[in-house]
Amino acid sequence: MSADVDLLKRRAAERAVELVESGMIVGLGSGSTAKHALERLAEFIQTGRLRDVRGVPTSRRIEQEAQALGIPLIDLDDVVEIDLTIDGADEVDPDLNLIKGGGGALLREKIVAQISRREVIVIDDSKLSPKLGTRWHLPVEVVPFGWRTQLRYLESLGAKVTLREVEGALFHTDQGNLILDCDFGAIENPKSLATLIKARAGIVEHGLFLSMATEVIVASAGGIRRITRGG
Ligand code: A5P
Repeated sequence: MSADVDLLKRRAAERAVELVESGMIVGLGSGSTAKHALERLAEFIQTGRLRDVRGVPTSRRIEQEAQALGIPLIDLDDVVEIDLTIDGADEVDPDLNLIKGGGGALLREKIVAQISRREVIVIDDSKLSPKLGTRWHLPVEVVPFGWRTQLRYLESLGAKVTLREVEGALFHTDQGNLILDCDFGAIENPKSLATLIKARAGIVEHGLFLSMATEVIVASAGGIRRITRGG
């Protein structure tokens, strides 16, 4: 990642943290952009600008990082609603539908997103796309048992499928599952694709986040833009 892109990610993330208020329960997204938000949140807590904030992490990694930064955490099971979640995305369409899961945390990210009153997505402008699937593959989390049958099923839906590996080793999610990265090309109807994928036993979750983002903060060289759903 270039330093310029990372700076844009940081700007978007830091703008999102300004939406956090004292007393809030905050969903802590995963990935390099969300990490910038985590660092800013820690700074605001340390300086006393924010008080009584508790975080709900979306991955083991971000949980460890939040602990290292001294951000108080709360167990997801002890939470009825999350006030605001700040998370990244791999691709964002004009309706604020997303592809997520580049880092493999899609399941926990979606569990947290679905109980978040506000799901704030932070991106640099390279993530904006006219149609999902044109800039990024769709990650699909599957249980290891019978994963090849899921690969064939996803191929039958029109995808070129790759089993995710990192540095030559199989990638395992926080749940011990596998990720199949699916290149569908431009996805004409994300909703019906999501239904078809979820209909299959053994497929745990996919990275299509449809109608979940309430707002997207986009940083570009020209400045920061906040796009709200229906706004
Ligand atoms: C993690 O699984 C993902 O959903 C990330 O939020 C997404 O990949 C964006 O990552 P970056 O902020 O690192 O680009």
